[in-house]
Amino acid sequence: MTKRKLIGPFRQLLTMANLPDRGPLKDEQLEIIPEAGILIENEKIIAVGSFKVLKQKHPKVSKEIIREDMVALPGWIDAHTHICFAGSRAKDYAARNNGKSYLEIAKAGGGIRSTVLHTRAAEASKLFDLTMQRLDRHLKNGVTTVEIKSGYGLGVEEELKQLRVIKQADQKHAADVVSTCLAAHIIPNEFKDATSYLAQVQAELVPRILNEKLTHRFDIFIEDTAFTPEIAKPYLSFLREKGFQLTVHGDQFSRGGSQVAIDCGAVSVDHLEASGEQEIKALAQSKTIPVALPGASIGLGCSFAPARKLLDAGCALAIASDWNPGSAPQGNLLAQAAILGAFEQLSAAEVFAGLSFRAAQALQLFDRGTLVSGKMADIIAFPTEHFSEILYHQGMLKVKKVWKKGQIVE
Ligand code: NIG
Ligand code: FE
Repeated sequence: MTKRKLIGPFRQLLTMANLPDRGPLKDEQLEIIPEAGILIENEKIIAVGSFKVLKQKHPKVSKEIIREDMVALPGWIDAHTHICFAGSRAKDYAARNNGKSYLEIAKAGGGIRSTVLHTRAAEASKLFDLTMQRLDRHLKNGVTTVEIKSGYGLGVEEELKQLRVIKQADQKHAADVVSTCLAAHIIPNEFKDATSYLAQVQAELVPRILNEKLTHRFDIFIEDTAFTPEIAKPYLSFLREKGFQLTVHGDQFSRGGSQVAIDCGAVSVDHLEASGEQEIKALAQSKTIPVALPGASIGLGCSFAPARKLLDAGCALAIASDWNPGSAPQGNLLAQAAILGAFEQLSAAEVFAGLSFRAAQALQLFDRGTLVSGKMADIIAFPTEHFSEILYHQGMLKVKKVWKKGQIVE
């Protein structure tokens, strides 16, 4: 049986529709419906418009009346996280802020390798609980779609364990989860070189992933301390031939990763803190979407990705949290995006686009990210009468209501 309902009135509803896929945006371009209603049928939006008009047109439909000032937007989409992990890296964080370098911390047993040890040691059920708790927090904050990477297993069985947990979280949690295999995060201790490790991933892990349908996406961390561009290219070409969607951790500390991402047809390249004019130009001429990860800049005390320049050059720009125990432990996507906006002079339209339809493009999800007829009814509402309050409070104006596929979840 089809279930219809009308939600509203919202003081303002930002559809995030009818905006260009790429390039700069001004707040004047935002499509804002005052005193708005949303008509939903099952999981989808079937109409958006004046609440009064929709009520007159559909007098018998059930109503969810909003009794306070609220601004509605599409549910946020976090296109890059590592929230399937165990353990804490608080000691690394403190050591960094006491003057230790990343390399010194790694040598003392910290860094990604320490999270690998904790994640390998954790039972799958424990890892599942931890992932679900983090998804709960994200959903409470309005994040209705979350990408989660593996990459703390770094071995066939260990990566499979993480990917199965991520799949189970997708099945059990109200939020939608998009899983990505990041077996190529760093070279695990068991291997002497990248080539032999990636050969094992290709020969043993990839067939198991295909067999169990665990993910359709792969990622690689391109950096001298992880995988070089020369090593990354044949690996990504192999995965592309197998039909996987590709994404890349690129240009975080040194350049080179973004060009590999472009050459290999990756859907996105994420980080870009080290990108220069040449990388920005190349990205603007490509289809690869740049993803800024302000949470990693805040966590590591580094500069932000050149978001303003990327947009002005004509790129789409998605903004994601990178939530992980090392570089980005905070995990508050809205706060991070607001702070990036303040440092990089991004309009609210550009920030909201980066968290909605442009983030959806980075994940190749075309059924969400705007509030228009036919899209998934993922809706968030902030307790305010004007959208400008949302970023102004830098994450402290909390989402009051969240609908996932038309159902109220918060
Ligand atoms: O995106 N740069 C590589 N990977 C993660 C960090 C993961 C970690 O430190 O545990 C990132 O920042
Ligand atoms: Fe990351």
